[in-house]
Amino acid sequence: MSGMHVGIIMDGNGRWARSHGRPRWRGHLAGVDSVRDIVRGAPDLGVSTLTMYAFSSDNWKRPRGEVSRLFWLLREFCRRERAELIENGVRVTQVGRRDRIPASALAELDDTVRATAGGRRLQLRLAIDYSARWAIGAAAQEIAHLVASGDLRPDAITPETLNDQMTNGVPELDLIIRTAGEQRLSDFMLWEAAYAELYFTPILWPDFRREDLALALSEFGRRERRFGGVDTGDAAVQKLAAR
Ligand code: IPE
Ligand code: IPE
Ligand code: MG
Repeated sequence: MSGMHVGIIMDGNGRWARSHGRPRWRGHLAGVDSVRDIVRGAPDLGVSTLTMYAFSSDNWKRPRGEVSRLFWLLREFCRRERAELIENGVRVTQVGRRDRIPASALAELDDTVRATAGGRRLQLRLAIDYSARWAIGAAAQEIAHLVASGDLRPDAITPETLNDQMTNGVPELDLIIRTAGEQRLSDFMLWEAAYAELYFTPILWPDFRREDLALALSEFGRRERRFGGVDTGDAAVQKLAAR
């Protein structure tokens, strides 16, 4: 599997609901259709890893009713989509904290993770109770344990040490898409975003479909990624020669 790794900050469900004169949770419900469509369409667009921000650790600040509906939707998604996910070769994993996810949602999520473990077409990473700063803290804790047990010298700790701990073999993040117009990361993949391309679209998440993903990917294809170096490649030379 060597396609792209795309992260999506799925935002705008509440605004979508308001614009349709419906309560906020109807926006979340409509957003599930977008998740299904993106997951179905992603592999054919060259995406092999998809990290979707479904619930941030700061989203616990929302009203209890909205939070329970979000976890109810997660539970139903895992339950209803499992068979199709298996059939389509999608492997589901979770990133984020596990200890605060409501038990019934966690059980369905874990069943889905187990049942889809053989999926090879697409790795779908669901960021649930996720906070990048928490994840960095957790990685630092793991490293501190290694130091405390004498398995690692403090002066041997490098960015690579932290990177290995953080990414756990998942390929680097190529592109982060955020819907609904906000231009911020909201504590999503702060470490992994170091050289990711950022793409912002005003489309609200419940209106976002695979055609919109295709547009984002074609824009990505036009970006020049230098990773701090200079572009001495053929493409740059040809561009100059064509002037
Ligand atoms: C994104 O939509 C869904 C989650 C954060 C769970 P919002 O609920 O944030 O929608 P807006 O930003 O209020 O429109
Ligand atoms: C980010 O959206 C979290 C998810 C998409 C799950 P928010 O709507 O919670 O972010 P802010 O509050 O606009 O930064
Ligand atoms: Mg929002």
